[in-house]
Amino acid sequence: MKIFVTRKIPEQGLALLKKHHEIQVNPENRVLTKKEIIKGLKGKDGLLCLLTDTIDEEVIKAEPKLKMIANYAVGFNNIDVNAATKEKIPVSNTPDVLTNATSEMAWALLFSVARRIVEADKFTRTGNFKGWDPMLMHGKDITGKTLGVIGAGRIGTAFALKSKGFDMKVLYFNRSANKTLEEELKAKKVTLDVLLKESDFVSIHVPLIPETHHLISEKELKMMKKTAVLINTARGPIVDEKALAKALKEKWIFGAGLDVYENEPDVSKELLNLDNVVLQPHSASATTESREGMAIMVAENMLEGLKGKKPPNCVNPGIFS
Ligand code: GLV
Ligand code: GLV
Repeated sequence: MKIFVTRKIPEQGLALLKKHHEIQVNPENRVLTKKEIIKGLKGKDGLLCLLTDTIDEEVIKAEPKLKMIANYAVGFNNIDVNAATKEKIPVSNTPDVLTNATSEMAWALLFSVARRIVEADKFTRTGNFKGWDPMLMHGKDITGKTLGVIGAGRIGTAFALKSKGFDMKVLYFNRSANKTLEEELKAKKVTLDVLLKESDFVSIHVPLIPETHHLISEKELKMMKKTAVLINTARGPIVDEKALAKALKEKWIFGAGLDVYENEPDVSKELLNLDNVVLQPHSASATTESREGMAIMVAENMLEGLKGKKPPNCVNPGIFS
């Protein structure tokens, strides 16, 4: 069968696909337009796409032979899953393999903001370090503080568990209770308001769905402590970026660490001029281990889907029942 790959991914995954099928990989290192994706899909049985590709109903219906959509990401808000389900096309994602990398990036951002690492690095490089100074670069302690975890799924849970070494009080906001967090950390399930009011560090780990769009906006930012830090490694539109820029500029909170943005690849100009925010280029899953694991997983999903079987990481398994 034939597979269209919208952009080069690590070779491990491509090699696995090539053993069984013919693949066409976008030769250019850039995001394709919708028109180009539709053109590439012509005559293909499988679509291997990225979180930067909008796979809407028009794309899904463009090629009648299409039997499988495998997303190279854990988040799949870029795909109209309902439209795929209507066409009986399975959609898969790549969970688990990136849980460590993503939760570690949330910690890297947390430390970077709390200890002003990026700002201090810039300060040192530009020759401003004139000797030890009792008043220089005061940040915030982490040990013993309160950690607020919004979304206690795989990544949120892994993130919270890594707080063990820092003896933190853990609060979480989630639809259902999380036994692991309650047993291992004595974590408390609370409302979003309580979490925002009581946490020193707030980290977002929910998927982007209509209910989480602008979950954190002006009202929520105003509930946070003046000394608090907000981390977002999930999806940009969960946070109202304009409101966050205002909060950081006017010091409603101490700082923020962001891996994701509302209108990627654009980053609000206001954020670029602030020292109390650390900015990453949506690279939380970018470790060798994680990206290679994702490549193998996306290929394994594709192979099963093309056999007409339920892919191991199917997000619309209902079509098989
Ligand atoms: C990255 O953002 C992913 O969803 O895998
Ligand atoms: C991501 O998919 C998670 O479960 O946190």
